[in-house]
Amino acid sequence: MTAALPISLQVNGERIDAQVLPRLNLADFLREHLKLTGTHVGCEHGVCGACTVRVNGDIVRSCLMLAAQTHGAIIETIEGLSDSGEIADLQAAFRDRNALQCGFCTPGMLIAAQDLLLHDATPDRERIREHLSGNYCRCTGYQAIVDAVESTAQARMGRTP
Ligand code: FES
Ligand code: FES
Repeated sequence: MTAALPISLQVNGERIDAQVLPRLNLADFLREHLKLTGTHVGCEHGVCGACTVRVNGDIVRSCLMLAAQTHGAIIETIEGLSDSGEIADLQAAFRDRNALQCGFCTPGMLIAAQDLLLHDATPDRERIREHLSGNYCRCTGYQAIVDAVESTAQARMGRTP
Protein backbone atom coordinates (compact mmCIF):
# COMPACT_ATOMS: atom_id res chain seq x y z
CA MET A 1 0.00 0.00 0.00
CA THR A 2 1.33 3.46 -0.96
CA ALA A 3 1.84 5.84 1.94
CA ALA A 4 0.16 9.25 1.85
CA LEU A 5 2.36 12.33 1.97
CA PRO A 6 1.69 15.30 4.26
CA ILE A 7 1.39 18.68 2.54
CA SER A 8 0.71 22.19 3.81
CA LEU A 9 -0.20 24.90 1.36
CA GLN A 10 -2.33 27.98 0.95
CA VAL A 11 -5.40 27.81 -1.28
CA ASN A 12 -7.32 31.02 -1.95
CA GLY A 13 -5.85 32.55 1.19
CA GLU A 14 -6.65 29.63 3.45
CA ARG A 15 -4.08 27.29 4.95
CA ILE A 16 -4.66 23.68 4.03
CA ASP A 17 -3.04 20.67 5.67
CA ALA A 18 -3.67 17.39 3.92
CA GLN A 19 -2.43 13.87 3.28
CA VAL A 20 -2.18 13.03 -0.40
CA LEU A 21 -1.25 9.97 -2.37
CA PRO A 22 1.94 10.45 -4.40
CA ARG A 23 0.18 10.18 -7.79
CA LEU A 24 -2.79 12.46 -7.02
CA ASN A 25 -2.74 15.43 -9.36
CA LEU A 26 -3.47 18.98 -8.28
CA ALA A 27 -6.70 19.23 -10.30
CA ASP A 28 -8.19 16.21 -8.57
CA PHE A 29 -6.94 17.40 -5.19
CA LEU A 30 -8.68 20.76 -5.67
CA ARG A 31 -11.90 19.22 -6.99
CA GLU A 32 -12.24 16.14 -4.84
CA HIS A 33 -10.52 17.01 -1.59
CA LEU A 34 -11.30 20.73 -1.39
CA LYS A 35 -14.54 20.73 -3.45
CA LEU A 36 -13.24 23.58 -5.60
CA THR A 37 -15.01 22.35 -8.71
CA GLY A 38 -14.51 25.55 -10.71
CA THR A 39 -11.24 23.98 -11.84
CA HIS A 40 -12.42 21.84 -14.71
CA VAL A 41 -10.81 18.70 -16.08
CA GLY A 42 -11.00 18.08 -19.81
CA CYS A 43 -8.12 16.28 -21.43
CA GLU A 44 -6.02 15.40 -18.34
CA HIS A 45 -2.97 15.65 -20.61
CA GLY A 46 -2.02 19.31 -20.43
CA VAL A 47 -3.63 20.20 -23.73
CA CYS A 48 -6.99 21.92 -23.18
CA GLY A 49 -6.27 24.45 -20.42
CA ALA A 50 -9.57 23.82 -18.60
CA CYS A 51 -7.67 23.03 -15.39
CA THR A 52 -5.63 26.26 -15.31
CA VAL A 53 -4.87 27.63 -11.83
CA ARG A 54 -2.25 29.93 -10.36
CA VAL A 55 0.64 28.47 -8.39
CA ASN A 56 2.91 31.02 -6.73
CA GLY A 57 1.65 33.64 -9.17
CA ASP A 58 2.22 31.65 -12.34
CA ILE A 59 -0.47 29.87 -14.32
CA VAL A 60 -0.13 26.10 -14.51
CA ARG A 61 -2.17 23.19 -15.79
CA SER A 62 -3.21 21.53 -12.60
CA CYS A 63 -3.71 18.15 -14.31
CA LEU A 64 0.04 18.04 -14.93
CA MET A 65 1.14 18.89 -11.39
CA LEU A 66 1.13 16.50 -8.49
CA ALA A 67 -0.58 17.66 -5.34
CA ALA A 68 2.52 16.54 -3.45
CA GLN A 69 4.56 19.10 -5.40
CA THR A 70 2.50 21.96 -3.97
CA HIS A 71 3.81 21.67 -0.43
CA GLY A 72 4.50 25.25 0.68
CA ALA A 73 2.85 26.76 -2.41
CA ILE A 74 0.28 29.50 -2.77
CA ILE A 75 -2.56 28.33 -5.01
CA GLU A 76 -5.30 30.50 -6.44
CA THR A 77 -8.28 28.99 -8.23
CA ILE A 78 -11.13 30.58 -10.11
CA GLU A 79 -13.11 30.68 -6.86
CA GLY A 80 -10.40 32.77 -5.17
CA LEU A 81 -9.95 35.15 -8.08
CA SER A 82 -13.69 35.57 -8.36
CA ASP A 83 -14.34 36.08 -4.63
CA SER A 84 -11.55 38.67 -4.33
CA GLY A 85 -13.02 40.75 -7.15
CA GLU A 86 -9.72 40.65 -9.03
CA ILE A 87 -11.36 39.56 -12.27
CA ALA A 88 -14.81 41.11 -11.81
CA ASP A 89 -14.33 43.32 -14.88
CA LEU A 90 -13.18 40.38 -17.00
CA GLN A 91 -16.13 38.30 -15.87
CA ALA A 92 -18.51 41.15 -16.72
CA ALA A 93 -16.90 41.56 -20.14
CA PHE A 94 -17.24 37.83 -20.86
CA ARG A 95 -20.92 38.04 -19.92
CA ASP A 96 -21.56 41.23 -21.89
CA ARG A 97 -19.77 39.98 -25.01
CA ASN A 98 -21.30 36.51 -24.90
CA ALA A 99 -17.83 35.04 -24.55
CA LEU A 100 -19.13 31.86 -22.96
CA GLN A 101 -21.71 29.29 -23.89
CA CYS A 102 -21.39 26.00 -22.02
CA GLY A 103 -18.84 27.58 -19.68
CA PHE A 104 -16.57 24.56 -19.50
CA CYS A 105 -13.50 26.44 -20.69
CA THR A 106 -14.38 29.69 -18.94
CA PRO A 107 -12.59 29.38 -15.57
CA GLY A 108 -9.31 28.47 -17.25
CA MET A 109 -9.85 31.08 -19.93
CA LEU A 110 -10.43 33.82 -17.34
CA ILE A 111 -7.32 32.89 -15.35
CA ALA A 112 -5.20 32.80 -18.51
CA ALA A 113 -6.63 36.13 -19.70
CA GLN A 114 -5.95 37.75 -16.34
CA ASP A 115 -2.39 36.43 -16.48
CA LEU A 116 -1.93 38.09 -19.86
CA LEU A 117 -3.31 41.43 -18.67
CA LEU A 118 -1.04 41.39 -15.62
CA HIS A 119 2.00 40.99 -17.88
CA ASP A 120 0.87 43.06 -20.85
CA ALA A 121 -1.61 45.86 -20.19
CA THR A 122 -2.15 46.66 -23.86
CA PRO A 123 -2.14 43.41 -25.82
CA ASP A 124 -3.30 43.51 -29.41
CA ARG A 125 -5.72 40.90 -30.71
CA GLU A 126 -2.95 38.70 -32.06
CA ARG A 127 -1.21 38.68 -28.70
CA ILE A 128 -4.48 37.83 -26.94
CA ARG A 129 -5.06 34.93 -29.33
CA GLU A 130 -1.51 33.72 -28.87
CA HIS A 131 -1.71 33.82 -25.06
CA LEU A 132 -5.05 32.01 -25.03
CA SER A 133 -4.07 29.49 -27.69
CA GLY A 134 -3.53 26.79 -25.06
CA ASN A 135 -7.06 27.19 -23.74
CA TYR A 136 -9.52 25.36 -25.95
CA CYS A 137 -13.10 26.46 -26.43
CA ARG A 138 -15.43 24.26 -28.41
CA CYS A 139 -18.36 26.68 -28.39
CA THR A 140 -17.58 30.32 -29.07
CA GLY A 141 -15.18 30.43 -32.00
CA TYR A 142 -12.90 32.63 -29.83
CA GLN A 143 -13.94 35.93 -31.44
CA ALA A 144 -16.11 37.01 -28.50
CA ILE A 145 -13.44 35.92 -26.02
CA VAL A 146 -10.83 38.06 -27.72
CA ASP A 147 -13.34 40.94 -27.79
CA ALA A 148 -13.93 40.58 -24.04
CA VAL A 149 -10.23 40.51 -23.17
CA GLU A 150 -9.48 43.42 -25.49
CA SER A 151 -12.28 45.56 -24.07
CA THR A 152 -11.18 44.77 -20.51
CA ALA A 153 -7.62 45.82 -21.34
CA GLN A 154 -8.88 49.07 -22.85
CA ALA A 155 -11.15 49.78 -19.87
CA ARG A 156 -8.29 49.16 -17.43
CA MET A 157 -6.22 51.69 -19.36
CA GLY A 158 -9.05 54.19 -18.99
CA ARG A 159 -10.11 54.00 -22.59
CA THR A 160 -13.62 53.44 -23.80
CA PRO A 161 -13.77 50.08 -25.56
FE1 FES B 1 -5.50 19.91 -17.79
FE2 FES B 1 -6.78 19.68 -20.11
S1 FES B 1 -7.42 19.00 -18.13
S2 FES B 1 -4.92 20.75 -19.67
FE1 FES C 1 -18.08 25.90 -24.12
FE2 FES C 1 -15.85 27.38 -24.21
S1 FES C 1 -17.88 28.05 -23.75
S2 FES C 1 -16.02 25.22 -24.30
